[in-house]
Amino acid sequence: MYRTHNCGELNKKHCNSIVKLSGWVHSIRLMKKITFIDLRDFYGITQLLIPTIKINIKKEYVIQIIGKVVKRKFPNFNINTGDIEIYVKKIKILNKSIKIPIDINKEYNKNKVKLFKYRYIYLRNLNLKNNLIIKSKILNIIRKFFIINNFLEIETPLLVKSTSEGARNFIVLYRKKLGYYYSLPQSPQTFKQLLMIGGIDKYYQIVKCFRDEDARKDRQPEFLQLDLEMSFINRKNIFNIIIKLIKYLLYKIHKIKFINIKILSYKNIIKKYNTEKPDLRYKVYELNNNKFKYNINNKFLNYKIYGLILPNYFNIVGINKDVIINLLKNKINKILLYNYKNNIINKLDNKVFNKIKLIKELINKEFFSNKDLLLFLILKKNKYYKTIKNKINNFLLKSKYLNNIYIPIIIYKFPLFKYKNGKYYSYHHPFTKPYNNKLKNNLADSYDLIINGIEVGSGSIRIDNSKMQNKVFKILGLSNNKIKKEFSFFLKSLKFGTPPHGGIGIGIDRLILSLLNKNNIIDFIAFPKNYLNKDLMIKTPSKIKNIKI
Ligand code: AMO
Repeated sequence: MYRTHNCGELNKKHCNSIVKLSGWVHSIRLMKKITFIDLRDFYGITQLLIPTIKINIKKEYVIQIIGKVVKRKFPNFNINTGDIEIYVKKIKILNKSIKIPIDINKEYNKNKVKLFKYRYIYLRNLNLKNNLIIKSKILNIIRKFFIINNFLEIETPLLVKSTSEGARNFIVLYRKKLGYYYSLPQSPQTFKQLLMIGGIDKYYQIVKCFRDEDARKDRQPEFLQLDLEMSFINRKNIFNIIIKLIKYLLYKIHKIKFINIKILSYKNIIKKYNTEKPDLRYKVYELNNNKFKYNINNKFLNYKIYGLILPNYFNIVGINKDVIINLLKNKINKILLYNYKNNIINKLDNKVFNKIKLIKELINKEFFSNKDLLLFLILKKNKYYKTIKNKINNFLLKSKYLNNIYIPIIIYKFPLFKYKNGKYYSYHHPFTKPYNNKLKNNLADSYDLIINGIEVGSGSIRIDNSKMQNKVFKILGLSNNKIKKEFSFFLKSLKFGTPPHGGIGIGIDRLILSLLNKNNIIDFIAFPKNYLNKDLMIKTPSKIKNIKI
């Protein structure tokens, strides 16, 4: 037996008992004739007192000790076991460690090579360990949710066919015939639709997806997706399940009971926030500038008006200490007018602006809630506008009051295609049904889930008709030959009685970032790739010599 207890559980109640512990030497301190060791395992840290300084033990050695639990003279309130220490009677080295190349207590720049190369050591970092614990908890909550809601978990293949779905595919060589290959799936998209054709009513899966795109803060070449699909549903049914899931997660993780999930059309989102993924907690948005590039009247001939919005401002409490915010308190009809010139902010006569039709249009209730704060700036130069925007953003970002605020939005009615360099591209993907089944409006029955400014998920109601699917492939510029080669099986499958269906893919790592207010998915992946998509630990990708079959 290696241990009677773990390193995180002993307390005053255990005083005088003899225990056996195993773990890593977290730190060593020599004092007169005594050695203090902090012994660490997955569960915590326990202080050891060894009545000698003659021990041949170094940091990160794996040791086993037997000793007596005693009350500490000076408790350490920072750790669970802070009331006690172990008076060590016997000590055994289970395994030595060579000098470790990184300090596991330190937070490094995320791109540091050693962090990738020695990831297995950095997994001993407390924050990283806690991130993996919370990720595991969130995965459990998600699974529980889908079990309660009668979804069937089904796995789909990882060795699939290369298709023109969006990003670049990773390919895998086929051993039996030179020049042939499989492709790793960008998502289980076609398979989950085939499951619906196969009569599976509600499917979900937590699945690895692969995309040959350079890694970023919110992107990895292989990532985890919560994938789901349902039959005989419309977009509202899907919205309901998303809303239910987000509410369930926020309750289970943060005990948040009331949450208002907004559903807004793409058109309104762009009009209001000028971005596809607004963070409705605190970000300051540039209102559609074109609208304000007017010389209003003689008085302001040389100025431009810019609009900013602080969404949900009046719901956020306690952030009025800052100078800017104090100034904003002098609001009149929740509109503020500033002349931000020579770094001096002057409040202007708002009567002038009430006369301006454009602004009246903008404060139309349809677009803004009375919880939003609108701010209009009359500026001589662009840079003042940027300065004030950054100032407010920085202030709000630092505000701890925002930590527990979650504003999920479902955006729907996206464009179906975008046109670039003489070619049409799908806004979502080629399987998305046109809104009202009409191609000519260029609107899609698709939707995104945004939480606090992070694009967490994306989905759509699918085309369930072979002819329409073929038409869409053609609009996207796929030749008959290519359609046949890549999608003939799929077009055929749609002819055998396809139920109306739709679903969504939710990026698990991004979901976690949004729910925990974090900003880099690397922190939630045990073995991530670096920004060049390399695994520096196992040294892959690596060269293939002489491909033999
Ligand atoms: P989409 O391509 O929009 O849709 O992806 C869905 C969600 O997956 C996450 N995601 C990523 N996360 C980390 N790293 C990446 N490289 C990455 N790429 C995407 C995002 C994104 O919102 N099959 C469709 C879903 C559907 O229509 O049901 C799909 O994959 O959070």
